[in-house]
Amino acid sequence: MKKMSRAFLSAVLTVALLLSLAACSNADNHSSTVSSESVSTAETSSEASSTVSDASESKPIGIITAMSNELAMLLEKAEISETKTIGGVDYNIGTLEGQDVVLVQGGIGKSMAAAGTTVLINEFDVKSIIFTGIAGGVGDEVQVLDEVIATDLVFHDYGNQTNDGFVWDAAAGVNEDGTIPVDEELSKKAYEAAVSVLGEDHVFQGRIATGDQFVASAEYVTYLQEEFDAIACEMEGAAVARIAAQYEVPCCVIRAMSDKADGAAHDTYENFGDTAADNSASIVLAMLQSM
Ligand code: ADE
Repeated sequence: MKKMSRAFLSAVLTVALLLSLAACSNADNHSSTVSSESVSTAETSSEASSTVSDASESKPIGIITAMSNELAMLLEKAEISETKTIGGVDYNIGTLEGQDVVLVQGGIGKSMAAAGTTVLINEFDVKSIIFTGIAGGVGDEVQVLDEVIATDLVFHDYGNQTNDGFVWDAAAGVNEDGTIPVDEELSKKAYEAAVSVLGEDHVFQGRIATGDQFVASAEYVTYLQEEFDAIACEMEGAAVARIAAQYEVPCCVIRAMSDKADGAAHDTYENFGDTAADNSASIVLAMLQSM
């Protein structure tokens, strides 16, 4: 009996040893399976990275305006394949002058401009943003229907109300002096396009001052010149540029002067607003052709 159980025990041990050897060899097989899977994953990810760069080539350009007359000509010339409404705002997806674009009338003022810009970036993954529209001429040399391409922008209405009146604050900007940058290359293309449409004498590059105010005051124009060295004022540009800078998306701001932001501004704006809006849109078309 004892002999029998020893033989039985040794048989059990032998089987156990064989089983564990088999398990090891299975584990080796499994590890080779895993590594061949990781090779194929690596191949897939290198394919994916080339797909990503191809995809960035085909990302659309976001074009944003405040008002319908500023977008009208672009919408007319574009081939729109789809319109998505987000937050009550229509985003028109299509092509314009051979470029993939998303066209949006974001709405008037800084908050709508910032919201529209954020949607263009987050929902439509735009590769760059062009703002086009009208503005009040602030620089003495800038006349009605001239064009201003922003070199940078500033929020002229951000600051503190004190017992001594309004005191501007630089904190809402990107740079220490409160300015907000634009993309140099895109702005250069905008300048060249503007010169090709209007001629050099009618195109200016300089600072644009943005605030939630329609400026119709010669006194305030002097303030914008002296405090900010601004050559145009409007109500959206700095908000678009501020959000674009935050997301590191290249942007430019193109504005045609509908008025001189002085006491006569409301009348001048009524007379020249639509023509100015079309001029600016024509410059965007020329810009897209050159890209
Ligand atoms: N857009 C066109 N003209 C303007 C002005 N005078 N002030 C602010 N925004 C404007």
